[in-house]
Parts: sequence; C-alpha cells; structure tokens
Amino acid sequence: MTLTETAPGASEAELERHFEATIARNDRIEPRDWMPEGYRKTLVRQIAQHAHSEIIGMQPEGNWITRAPSLRRKAILLAKVQDEAGHGLYLYSAAETLGVSRLELTELLLAGRQKYSSIFNYPTLSYADVGTIGWLVDGAAICNQVPLCRTSFGPYGRAMIRVCKEESFHQRQGFELLATMMRGTDEQRAMVQESVDRFWWPALMMFGPPDADSPNTAQSMAWGIKRNTNDELRQKFVDMSVPQAEALGVTLPDPELRWNEERGHHDFGQPDWEEFMEGVKGNGPCNAQRMAHRRRAHEEGAWVRAAATAYAAKQGLDTPRSSLAGHSTTGGTER
Ligand SMILES: [Fe+2]
Ligand SMILES: [Fe+2]
Repeated sequence: MTLTETAPGASEAELERHFEATIARNDRIEPRDWMPEGYRKTLVRQIAQHAHSEIIGMQPEGNWITRAPSLRRKAILLAKVQDEAGHGLYLYSAAETLGVSRLELTELLLAGRQKYSSIFNYPTLSYADVGTIGWLVDGAAICNQVPLCRTSFGPYGRAMIRVCKEESFHQRQGFELLATMMRGTDEQRAMVQESVDRFWWPALMMFGPPDADSPNTAQSMAWGIKRNTNDELRQKFVDMSVPQAEALGVTLPDPELRWNEERGHHDFGQPDWEEFMEGVKGNGPCNAQRMAHRRRAHEEGAWVRAAATAYAAKQGLDTPRSSLAGHSTTGGTER
C-alpha cells in the first residue's frame, strides 16, 4: 500500500520516514509515492542517460546492417538494433513516470546537458565489431543491469527485467558470431582479435570511474538505486569474461590480467581514465558524429510527431478514451 493511500495529510518528516522504511524493506517506490527531490533527480538523470545510451547505441551497429555478410546475420543484427530502440522507449516511459517527457529529455541530450554511455563513441571498423559489441558491450550492460532489476524505483526495475532478457540474447549472438569467425580463416581470427583489442578497455570503462572517484555511488546505494559499486561490477565482468575469452581462443589485451587465488578473483590493469574523462566531456572519437546523426534523426522525425499530436488531439475531441483504445476499435482516417 502506498503512502498516498494511507496518509493523505502526512507531514514532510512522516513522509520521509515512510520513504526510508520502504527502502529499508527493499520494497519498491512507485511514481505516486512521496520521494525526496534528490532521489527523483538522480533517477531522472540515470534513467535518461540509460535511455539515450540505448538510442545512440543503435548507431555503431546500425552502420553495418546494409553490409551484413549474409541474410541470417542481417536478420539477427536488424532484430538486435530494433531491440535497442525498444529499450530506449521502455526507459523513456519509466522516466516519464517521474514527470519529465521524452521530448524534454531528448532536447536536453541534444543541448549537451545530458549524457549517454561513452562506449558508443567508439567506431565500428569491421563486422567482427558486431560480435565484440554483443559479447563485451552487451555483456557489460548485463552486469550493470541485472542488479538494476532490484532497483528501488518500480518502473525502472520492471523495465530492466525485460531489457535484461533481451540483452542476454544480444550477448549470445555476439559470442556466437565471434565463435563462428574463430573457426574460420586466419584472416577472420585476426579480425576478431583486433576487434577485441579495441573494445576490451572501453568495455571496462562502462562501469564508470573507480569507486574512490565516484562521489554519487554512496548516496545511490543508500537509496537502493544502485545495488553494487562500479568496482564490484567491473570485477564481476572481468571474472565472467576471462573463461569466455578462453573458450573463444582470443587474448584479452591486459598484461596484468591473472587469477588471484587469495582473492578468488582475477587481478587486472586499469583502463586509461583520461581517455574515459575525455569521452565524458564529449570529446570521444565519434562523439560529434553520433550527436549530429541523432540531431538529424530528431529533425527528420518532426513531421511524425506533428502528425501524432494532431491525431491525438482529434481523438481527444471525439472520445474521452485514450488514443490507443480509440485506435484499436475505430481507426482514425474517417474522422
Ligand atoms: Fe539495450
Ligand atoms: Fe543490447
């Protein structure tokens, strides 16, 4: 039962206590519950950044759809890139429950006031990159997102459950593509290794800066938004990836990578955090290109938004039902 149902006239202190108790019980906070402004703002920022990443993340792989090596690979890649569009939409919808619209968030992204994951600023130079992105980038996304299925904000956690199911398909298709190439020619094996060499370190950066340099982590963990620190997740990813790299027969490009018997984990080197910070500041290799493409797509979609708005307004005049309900029963063209 939500607080709004139980205590309509509660004081701010009571509301806050109720919020803290809900978090402590590991229950979900729902959109109509009272929440501290900082919690709401953190969630909007995080969910928006996640949504933008899904949408911008369509670009590096979308680049290869017209050049897929077979019909089967094209069908798989098309499905994968479409899934990412869907992930963006679930996440924008989750953000909208916090009182911001998808359009506002898109405009903040285009104005450079919100970010997306820097991993999508790296170019895709060969078809092996489609496999490597599936294996390592979607793999890292899974490590990040599985704990988010238990995040404290209901709509975000529920969106993540569905997203994670699809991400695991993405990871498998990437691994399967690389495994197929590794059984091919020497040239194909070299393509895979070259691609893994380029993506390994950026994939490690996907977990964010080291815990010591991540000032927001403690508050996000206290609010149950984050369930693990950046370094914990990075470790989990490395431990998961090493046996997979062995199964593929590729070398991970880190001379410091070795099993640590005492810790029960792999030791590994640090990515180039300066390169990471440049990416965050918008100076990644393909940053300008990605943003220009996104801006163009937004402008070219203006007529669709205008048509949808006009259609919704028309439906609103004719029937109090939602435009979706009206659409399913009567259609709109004859009105
Ligand atoms: Fe995704
Ligand atoms: Fe994905």
